[in-house]
Order: sequence, then C-alpha cells, then structure tokens
Amino acid sequence: MDNRTFFRAAAPVTAALLALTTGCTGSTVQGRPGAAGLRDPFFPKAGNGGYDVSHYDLAIDYRPDSGRLSGTAVITARATQGLSSFNLDLSGLDVEDVKVQDASARFNRTGQELTVRPAEDLKKGQEFRTVVTYSGKPRTVNDPDGSAEGWIPTGDGAVAVGEPVGSMAWFPGNHHPSDKATYDITLTVPKGYEAVSNGRLESRTEKNGTSAFRWRSAQPMAGYLAIAAIGKYRVTTGRTASGIPVYNAVAPEEAAASAEALGRIPEIVDWGSRRFGAYPFDAAGAVVEAEDTLGYALETQTRPVYPGAPTDDLVVHEMAHQWFGNSVSPKSWKDMWLNEGFATYAEWLWSEDHGGLTAEEHFRAFLKGDTKADPSADADWGAFPPANPPSAKAISDDPVYYRGAMVLHRIRQEVGDRKFFDLVRGWTAEHRHGNASTADFVAYTEQRTGKDLDEQVWQNWLYGADKPKG
Ligand code: ARG
Ligand code: ZN
Repeated sequence: MDNRTFFRAAAPVTAALLALTTGCTGSTVQGRPGAAGLRDPFFPKAGNGGYDVSHYDLAIDYRPDSGRLSGTAVITARATQGLSSFNLDLSGLDVEDVKVQDASARFNRTGQELTVRPAEDLKKGQEFRTVVTYSGKPRTVNDPDGSAEGWIPTGDGAVAVGEPVGSMAWFPGNHHPSDKATYDITLTVPKGYEAVSNGRLESRTEKNGTSAFRWRSAQPMAGYLAIAAIGKYRVTTGRTASGIPVYNAVAPEEAAASAEALGRIPEIVDWGSRRFGAYPFDAAGAVVEAEDTLGYALETQTRPVYPGAPTDDLVVHEMAHQWFGNSVSPKSWKDMWLNEGFATYAEWLWSEDHGGLTAEEHFRAFLKGDTKADPSADADWGAFPPANPPSAKAISDDPVYYRGAMVLHRIRQEVGDRKFFDLVRGWTAEHRHGNASTADFVAYTEQRTGKDLDEQVWQNWLYGADKPKG
C-alpha cells in the first residue's frame, strides 16, 4: 500500500531525510527508531527494541471453511527509549489499520517486520497502546529443523503454535521470549466449534451463529507459548487437589486413549509443586489433536498440546515445562537446554518417584547406550554441548534434551539430594515469571550449593565439545 509507505527498506537516505524533517519541524526530537530485532544468537530478527509489552488483548475470528482469520490486537507497552518508530513481528496476513494512542499511525512491512510510525513520537518511559487490525489466511511456518509451526489447519479446524517463531503468523507482537506479557485471547468461531487457548475461560458468548471464547492468561507468558486450537473437541473439566481448574479439549477419536494420562494432570501438578516449588499458573489442562495434524507436543502455557493421545511421560514432560520454560523462560534461544534438560530430567524424577528407573539408572543407561534399560538411550546426546547448539536448526536436538538432563544429574551427583532439590526449588523461585540464561544458572548453582563445579560439570558436560565419559 503505497500511500502508507513512509520508507523503503533499501533507502536509508529516506529515513535520514525523515529524521531531518522531524528535527526541523518538531520542537525537540524525542525519538529514534526502535531496533528491528533483539539480536538473538539464532533468531536475530525475532523481537524488537525500544519497548516492553505488558499486555496483549487479541480478538481473533476464524472461519474453518475458508481458512480466513480477521483479528484485532491491542498491545499495551512501555517505551524504553524515545521512539519515532518501532517494529512488531508479523508474518503474512494483511494489515488494514494501525493506531497508536487512538491516532492513525503510518506503517510499512518488510519480511516479518511491521514498522509503525506513530503520529507523535513516544517518550522514554511512556506507556502506549497500539491497535493493529489485520486479516487474511494465516500461514504455516517451517522451522529451521523442518517441523511445522504457526497456523496449522487440521481436519476440522486449526491449531496455532509458536516455538520458536510461529506466533508471528497469527498475531503481531514482540515475538521473543525475553518480552513476556499477560494476555486476553478471544477466539470467535462458527457455532458448533470449540475454541481453546491459554489460561482460564472467562466467558463463552453465543451470537449470530458464532461462539466467542474469552481466555485470560493472568500470569506473564512468552509469545511462543500462546495457543489457539479450534475444532470439534470433547471438553472435560476438573480441579487439582489444591483447587487449580483443569480444562481438557480432546479430538473425539483420541478421547478413549487419552483418558488415563490426562486423568493424571492433577496428580502431576501436585507432584511438580512438591518437587519444583509452587505451580506457577492459575489453570492447567491439555489439548489433544488427532494424529498426523501436529508433528510434536508443545508446552503451550497452562495447556500443552499433544499430537494424539499422550503417554504419562509426555504429560509429565510438558507439565514440567510450566516451571522450566514457561515460568522461568530462556533469555535467548541458545538457552533452550534450560527448558528441555529440566523437562527431560522431570521424566526421570517422575519415574524414580513412581517405582520405575531412578534418575541415576537413566543417567547410566544413556552413558552406556543401554537401550534395554531405556529405549531412548541410543540418542545422539554427545553430538554437541547443550549450552552451545551449533545452529538454529539444532535447538531441539538430542543433546539439548538428554545431555541437558545429564548435566542436571551430574550436579546432583556432586552436591547430593538435599542441596540439589533445594537448588531446583530456589531456581524456580528466583526467576518465577521471569527469564534466565545459562550463565545465570551456572552462577546461581555455585552460589546456592557453595560448590565449585567448573571442571567436572560446566567444562566437561555443559560447555565442552567432547562427549563426556562420566
Ligand atoms: N518444546 C517441545 C517439547 O519438548 C518440542 C518442540 C519441537 N519443535 C521443533 N521445532 N522440533 O515439548
Ligand atoms: Zn520439551
């Protein structure tokens, strides 16, 4: 849309001219452009600089028949510098209108960057409201490792997931895990469909042949953990012993096979609360898709999604992410082992606490490649150090999961059970609803346990290139 284009990517001269003009006409120049990316080591364009989002209010209308979506995103943020323009991430879809502080804003699109130029510069520290109206057929995004994310049409609806960068396919935002915010997500669908998202279901309103489901995430969430699941699910509800509401939406053909593992959600939440510290959210549950619609499970906040009926271990894994990944989120995509190592270690702990192999036995099975003890033990866990995946396409590879879990077990071997579980609970408390990096974890572990783990654990297991022998 030419009349709305205020600069072109290939013309820095135009941008410079613009800055000049503002300088001449305005009283003082308040702002400069916010950065177009946060320079994540693997996804440098993900997220944007110059502001911090506190809340997203998304209203999304989806028609499964046509595959078309229309949305309004109301984004409340605070400027962390004076801003003449700022970026949002959005991939595909058509932007119809952008308003900042109720005034029409000019905007421009290049790749995944939606650049917004407010009518007036924003001051450092100012809270401001951006409203983006958009529509179109949302796209499925291919991950660097080849799996599908973004908006994924299913047999009778769609499921939207976003690890690491798929959420920009269905709503504009600051799509990097370092900027967490609360969310209200309202999904409007034709009557007869269920629509599921994160957190608590606040209301369901039937109007003109549609159903509007209003979901609220009252605790901060990283954008990649948002879910929209639309389909003809069978819904069941319950509560954990401590009173947390559980809401499960299951593809009918998976209902029977899912019942047992999903029935354990309350027990898993309570077990996790004892092992890892208080459950971080005010809701729990699951979305189970029909087989062959989604290639993997994802720990979408409060309500993980499964690609068919899950096993107990998979539910334990995804629920463990609520502490590790969702409440304590990575500072960058390089810190992924803090998510996956802990979630994998949680499976070993669950097994240890329920009469299966102990974590020590799991650790030894992996060390020896003993698939009789654990069928997964032939994983290629030694290929690279968990703190240093070689590329964006490796962030979900075996070493991140299994060698990540082995790092944690090595710490336990060095410091003993009492200090280890104190460390785990201290870690989730220290960074509850926040972000943490590998360096933060190393420093915290040494400080909390009072032990120098440099050679045995950090060099040998976490950072070292060679496959450790023990
Ligand atoms: N984080 C998910 C889990 O471990 C897996 C995501 C896989 N995604 C991918 N692109 N390979 O539960
Ligand atoms: Zn995981």
